[in-house]
Amino acid sequence: MTFQLEPKIEDYILSHSAGYSTAAKAIVDETSALGDPAVMILAKEQYVFFRFIARLLQTKRVLDVGTFTGLSALAFAEGIPHYGQVVTIDREDAEWLEIARRNWDRAGVTNRIDVHIGEAENELKKLSNERTEPFDIIFLDVDKARTQQYFDLSLPLVADEGLILVDNSLWHRWVLDPERLDPDTAGTRDFNDNLQHDTRVEVVMLPIGDGLTLARPTR
Ligand SMILES: C[S@@+](CC[C@H](N)C(=O)[O-])C[C@H]1O[C@@H](n2cnc3c(N)ncnc32)[C@H](O)[C@@H]1O
Repeated sequence: MTFQLEPKIEDYILSHSAGYSTAAKAIVDETSALGDPAVMILAKEQYVFFRFIARLLQTKRVLDVGTFTGLSALAFAEGIPHYGQVVTIDREDAEWLEIARRNWDRAGVTNRIDVHIGEAENELKKLSNERTEPFDIIFLDVDKARTQQYFDLSLPLVADEGLILVDNSLWHRWVLDPERLDPDTAGTRDFNDNLQHDTRVEVVMLPIGDGLTLARPTR
């Protein structure tokens, strides 16, 4: 979701940028019909940005952590060549994934997407143990309390010239409120503070969606 922009500015930006594909629009519409969980869906400007950078960086392999109804996986799958691969991880294997699969089919990208059902921590460790080929882009969008842990597990999996994207860096702007000490806010705030001094990466935080952090390995 978008939290940072006034609606008028947001409308202007979105109407002057690339838009949803037919399948992406269908995911958004079907996700809206779910009610409350729809708040989790990727913001439109992030969808177009992810597809754009996947194309720009000539990305071949993506790790998408947090599938939900499949919009981020679709953005990456649409931005990579037909022989590329998106590995997407989620603990849920239900109605949400049906929406994703139906629309990945509609977009003709199902063969580029490999779904791993399980806890993010376990799945990241499995990929590490399998010594999988490095990923060009890793996108982290699961429970915010443990972002640091997922980031540390992701760093060895990303290519030297690759990119880790972390969603919800501003977490509804609550990171700025010292009274908010719930695990998700504290996890995000601590992660942001630590990353500032983390010499393993160079970091840029962008005010799009609910805040998006880009981290590039310095190794
Ligand atoms: C914010 S949504 C992901 C949104 C998605 N990237 C998109 O493009 O719309 C977060 C997803 O992460 C999953 N999730 C949360 N914590 C998890 C964990 N520890 N391990 C695996 N999946 C998790 C939830 O089931 C949910 O589908």
